[in-house]
Amino acid sequence: MPCTAPGSPAPAAVLCGLAGWVPPRVVTNDDLAERLDTDDTWIRTRTGIHRRHVIEPGQATSDLAVEAGRRVLRSAGCDTVDAVLVTTTTPDRPCPATAPAVAARLGLEGVAAFDVGAVCTGFVYGLATASGLIASGVAERVLLIGADTYSTIVDPLDRANAIIFGDGAGAVVLRAGDADEAGAIGHFDLGSDGAHEDLITVAAGGSRQRSAPGEVSNEDRYFAMRGKEVYRHAVTRMADSARTTLSKAGWKIDDVEHFVPHQANLRILHSVADDLGLPRERCVSHVASVGNTGAASIPLALADAVAQQMIRPGGRVLLTAFGGGLTWGSCLLTWPVLPPVHPYDQGEETAS
Ligand code: UT7
Repeated sequence: MPCTAPGSPAPAAVLCGLAGWVPPRVVTNDDLAERLDTDDTWIRTRTGIHRRHVIEPGQATSDLAVEAGRRVLRSAGCDTVDAVLVTTTTPDRPCPATAPAVAARLGLEGVAAFDVGAVCTGFVYGLATASGLIASGVAERVLLIGADTYSTIVDPLDRANAIIFGDGAGAVVLRAGDADEAGAIGHFDLGSDGAHEDLITVAAGGSRQRSAPGEVSNEDRYFAMRGKEVYRHAVTRMADSARTTLSKAGWKIDDVEHFVPHQANLRILHSVADDLGLPRERCVSHVASVGNTGAASIPLALADAVAQQMIRPGGRVLLTAFGGGLTWGSCLLTWPVLPPVHPYDQGEETAS
């Protein structure tokens, strides 16, 4: 393990690789309308979502995480890392964590590996955790993967939620570096409000309500969200968190060239941008093509924007997330020169 020389500043976590992956199977709004009382126009107008990708039966979150992890390690030219963090709301099992299996399948046996749970804020919490490991000298390189398969926990007959979510994984490699170099992740704001834990929940399957056969209603086994209330919290919490982070860094809203929020719903993203006084064109969104992919949404949106050369080296980027818990968080970075970034290409790698 690396260690920091006494008296020298703590190293910063610097982004040095990015990749995303979504499963090949596409579900369009029209596909959903065949089995649900909904239609393409309602979904597009209320959410901005046109389609999403879902896993095949038998696949699990770790399968997506491994795909994204393999791509990012190859692109960053990394044979090994000191820690693997998987952030997810849909682990392969309640026990053990998903990260050790992902590390082993990536050929990273023996490294520290654990899951970070903060629902859709997981990726920003994961960045903060990775930054802490690097700053403390516990790790010099960290692989952080946001991966979720909401198709495994959303009731396929629940029209309010089945239309929103998609499956996917996004991954980054972070290395020890200097706080003032491009790619250094900094000025975090993290928060939570557990008084509203019931707004987004899977009621059964944990220690409060086990999933014993015959004892659990279908409703309690599935993901539940009080959409309207969540919507209001999402806008307020993300805007406030973004402002707090900007003020910690001494950035003005005009300094933000690319705002990359958790891809919850296009209307939410635009409301946050409006609240911040940020032109909507600076708000990165790919919710139309993948839906809300939970902890994967920010790295997937970044991979897409970088592959399309919307985000370029030197661009100032603000990441902001919100999710169940409730949880929220933001951080900033100046975009570094990265090896070719793979978008969510569902198959063969395509360099840009
Ligand atoms: O990632 C974690 C954070 N998650 C979020 O941020 C999601 C936050 N919430 C949302 O994105 C939105 O609240 C939803 C997309 C879930 C719902 O949109 P909404 O504009 O808030 O709709 P609503 O829940 O107020 O429902 C309006 C109407 C209702 O009918 P009535 O009661 O007015 O007759 C719903 O039953 O739309 C109905 N409805 C639908 N209609 C057609 C709900 N879902 C659908 C549907 N298709 N899929």
